[in-house]
Amino acid sequence: MAATPPSTGGCPVHAAMTTSPTGCPVSARAAEFDPFSDAYQQDPPEYVRWAREQEPIFYSPKLGYWVVTRYDAIKAIFRDNITFSPSIALEKITPTGPEANAVLEQYGYAMNRTLVNEDEPAHMPRRRLLMEPFTPEHIRHHEPLVRKLTREYVNRFIDDGRADLVDQMLWEVPLTVALHFLGVPEEDMDTLRRYSIAHTVNTWGRPKPEEQVAVAHAVGNFWRYAGKVLEKMRQDPDQPGWMQYGIRMQRLHPDIVTDSYLHSMMMAGIVAAHETTANAAANAIKLLLQHPDAWRDICEDPTLIPNAVEECLRHNGSIAAWRRLVTRDTKIEGVDVPAGAKLLIVTSSANHDDRHFADADFFDIRRENASDHLTFGYGSHQCMGKNLARMEIQVILEELTRRLPHMRLAEQRFTYVPNTSFRGPEHLWVEWDPAQNPERRNPGILQAQAPVRIGEPSRHAIARTVVVESVTRIADGIVKLRLVSPDGRALPRWTPGSHIDVECGAPDRSRQYSLCGDPADEHALEIAVLHEPTGRGGSAWIHGQVRAGDKLRIRGPRNHFRMDETAGKLIFIAGGIGITPIAAMARRALELGLDYELHYSGRKRSSMALLAELAALHGDRLHVYVSEEGRRNDLAALLGRPRVGWQVYACGPKHMLEAVQAHCAAWPADALRVEHFESDLPQLDPAKEHAFEVELKDSGITITVPADKTVLASLRAANIDVSSDCEEGLCGTCEVRVLAGEVDHRDMVLTKAEREANNRMMTCCSRARGSKLVLEL
Ligand code: FES
Repeated sequence: MAATPPSTGGCPVHAAMTTSPTGCPVSARAAEFDPFSDAYQQDPPEYVRWAREQEPIFYSPKLGYWVVTRYDAIKAIFRDNITFSPSIALEKITPTGPEANAVLEQYGYAMNRTLVNEDEPAHMPRRRLLMEPFTPEHIRHHEPLVRKLTREYVNRFIDDGRADLVDQMLWEVPLTVALHFLGVPEEDMDTLRRYSIAHTVNTWGRPKPEEQVAVAHAVGNFWRYAGKVLEKMRQDPDQPGWMQYGIRMQRLHPDIVTDSYLHSMMMAGIVAAHETTANAAANAIKLLLQHPDAWRDICEDPTLIPNAVEECLRHNGSIAAWRRLVTRDTKIEGVDVPAGAKLLIVTSSANHDDRHFADADFFDIRRENASDHLTFGYGSHQCMGKNLARMEIQVILEELTRRLPHMRLAEQRFTYVPNTSFRGPEHLWVEWDPAQNPERRNPGILQAQAPVRIGEPSRHAIARTVVVESVTRIADGIVKLRLVSPDGRALPRWTPGSHIDVECGAPDRSRQYSLCGDPADEHALEIAVLHEPTGRGGSAWIHGQVRAGDKLRIRGPRNHFRMDETAGKLIFIAGGIGITPIAAMARRALELGLDYELHYSGRKRSSMALLAELAALHGDRLHVYVSEEGRRNDLAALLGRPRVGWQVYACGPKHMLEAVQAHCAAWPADALRVEHFESDLPQLDPAKEHAFEVELKDSGITITVPADKTVLASLRAANIDVSSDCEEGLCGTCEVRVLAGEVDHRDMVLTKAEREANNRMMTCCSRARGSKLVLEL
């Protein structure tokens, strides 16, 4: 961790060495900030840790930019592309001298605004017109090429025992894919490859005066050659390729897709699709090999790869920072920033912000919100090629983990092309023992391949393997499973009310079970499972198949049934197996010394799990109702009078929850929280639904949700990332914020008050009551 700068007296932050354009003193660290220093190049988020923690926005006199470092502020900047214009995103960070400018002029270099740096109102109409080839449906068609190329390149070095993955594969595969995606003819690929690197140095780098002229020649050549290739494409615009698609769109909308626009897009497209992906793949492999546990996990379980890619993009993505121009006086993090100010928004720092990512520096390939990273930007300027990049990195990792699981990093010092934004090692040396190559013993593995997930990974990709340490019968028809990690590593921490998803024999058959053990025990998770012969098959599988020593795949823990530890009094109501989350909550209430009552109902004592343990722990606070003994919980007496400041938590059979809900109708909003494990969500019936529009405020597009599709499916088809898990309204993963329009809530997650607030919805099941919704996406 970086040391805290010494205080200079007065303001603890500012050292008054110099002042910002607003006259505010600049702190010593801000004055020293230099994104071309080795420290920034090696680890940008670590380099600005001090700022993230103490001075989240500061003025850098060396750069002439304001530097923004925290997640929320950067996301807000991406969201408002009027106040924060992207127009300087590609402006040269080091202005070129007259000699280099003359060279560029000589080539007729006239790089125009493109999708990445264009203001409204021009930007969105173009983006909408050119977006279709980037949707998951279209991206899918490129997977066979990516796989074929990756295999060919690995074939070239697999028997060598040593390779520089950047030079020998990672630079070339994404470039070839990018050129194919754009529709560049094979014969022009080599030339364009040679020129593209100069473009990065020209735009984001700090070439020395003597280098500038050479760089300008390369950029000029790149420009000129791109123009020639474009002309060639115009001769045959029906060929596949994004440029040809653009040429066809130009015919329909010549005012929107102009000539100069296409020429600029051609160049920018190559750089955007190629270098960022090559760098991202190199960063990902380096990071995974630096964390051998994670590398081993994805070798053993390739379904972890999609989320591992997201975590790599978050932890060490290929875009370290973006730039914006402030168009009107505004405030960022409470600091006045004047119109005309230039912003360096350090997205890599946002991705390490503990305010958004728990234990953000920790590399966790199962991190649930890894894909919230800002490496692709956000909103209307979010990288259109994100799903192409994700797919390429997944395929590359899948091929390498299958064919070279014994690969390790060689001794080396990593170097980076000096620039503020694009980041990836120039070389990545790895080594292995070719005699151990699995395909020498088992050539069959060459045919294997795991399905690639196009788009943001679903929660299904984040399963972890645990070992069943014991299976204990704790009541009639109820077994308790104690689950531990296979290698003795600690399991994720959890809070009372949390559940895990257990894959019951198949990835698409997962069931949710509340954790009922001790949250302080970091080495085990405990669940209790009731055998329900008429259920959907999950409990029957657990009772019939699972034995001590077996491996299970689980996801979570996740908590949508959180206990309010500040409540004046807590009423816990459990029926049957619903005691599992309630038991953990009551234990916590006891530990905290809170005022609480525990009401537990069941048919007969022998079928009530944990009874003796609860009696021993909770004494008089436990009220037991056994129906065969003629004792029932009198809900009218218990809940008849609404109490301010009390919280009621209930879990149990549907009829019991409905009764509790009815008795709490007059209680203050949100006083009752219930936990459901079964959805009664009916299948989507198009005959009973209506189509509606969804405006995505941050992305600047409007989509139609047809009667036979969910909002979630429609968002994904439009290339918008939303996570999901259960997809039946139970888990809360697919929640988004609603800005306008009335929601027809169908989930089991939101409370009555939360539904009435109408500012959140579950996209996997809920719909619009009227003709339109506006979402913060
Ligand atoms: Fe679980 Fe929507 S994905 S509630």
